[in-house]
Amino acid sequence: MTAHRPVRKAVLPVAGMGTRFLPATKAVPKEMLPVVDKPVVQYAVEEAMEAGIEQFVFVTGRGKAIIEDHFDHAYELEALLKERGKTLELNGLLEDLPASGSVSFTRQQSPLGLGHAVWCARHLVGDEPFAVLLPDDLMIGKPGAMAQMMKAYNSNGGGVIVAAEEKPLEEVSRYGVIAPGATKGNATEVKGVIEKPKMEEAPSRLCIIGRYILQPEIFHELDRKEKGTGGEIQLTDSMARLIGRMPFHAVRTDCARYDCGNKVGYLEANIAVGLERPDIAPALKDMLKGLRL
Ligand code: G1P
Repeated sequence: MTAHRPVRKAVLPVAGMGTRFLPATKAVPKEMLPVVDKPVVQYAVEEAMEAGIEQFVFVTGRGKAIIEDHFDHAYELEALLKERGKTLELNGLLEDLPASGSVSFTRQQSPLGLGHAVWCARHLVGDEPFAVLLPDDLMIGKPGAMAQMMKAYNSNGGGVIVAAEEKPLEEVSRYGVIAPGATKGNATEVKGVIEKPKMEEAPSRLCIIGRYILQPEIFHELDRKEKGTGGEIQLTDSMARLIGRMPFHAVRTDCARYDCGNKVGYLEANIAVGLERPDIAPALKDMLKGLRL
């Protein structure tokens, strides 16, 4: 049992093909699509950094190489911005860059499911607790979702923490669903989890959303490579096997969640984030008022 060890590493699974966004994602990874002016994946990295994460492990696939470029210096661009006196833009780029050596990439060679993607990071994570952030779930709030989860991790005996939200019953079969125990503050004890159950088999409406704090024991469970829902190796199934062996809580954060894995959620994220931005909010509001609905 490894509770309360600091969580220094984050795994970001980014191997998905993004077929829902074709043709935009033919040559551009879906994680690089912008929400206002920042790629979706960068929001997750910034959220993790705010929560104290120091090392980032991206689980990528073919066609995802520009994610590596994005988290590196762009010397020509930086030189040009400097030459033109665009200090604000230049500083913005430099501030957002993770420290040298803090970003690693490994490939999920076959699309075998989220559990398999996380398992692919096992050597880079090693024997310590780690966070998982699914960048499609864009979480906006202050403090960020991962920072709120770290707080729950420290006050609930470590173990496993997942972010969760109550969903309407007709939506539960899109998510991992929790069988809840006692609730204390924003944390509910997890007695069971089931991946994408039928509506009538769902133990509750409390659904997992894409933020996790996991213990390295999860890798032993993922090692079994057992297929679950949809014929994929599910992270949820391996988490279920940790129940009873360590504390396991679902945390309701007060962040807004936008599902950038589908078109309407992605558009909503752009509008919601735009409305929070002082530089564009007034013009965006005027534009929205002028739309004929
Ligand atoms: C994954 C997980 C699921 C979770 C969801 C959150 O599903 O398997 O348990 O509820 O993320 O976004 P996916 O959306 O990848 O099918």
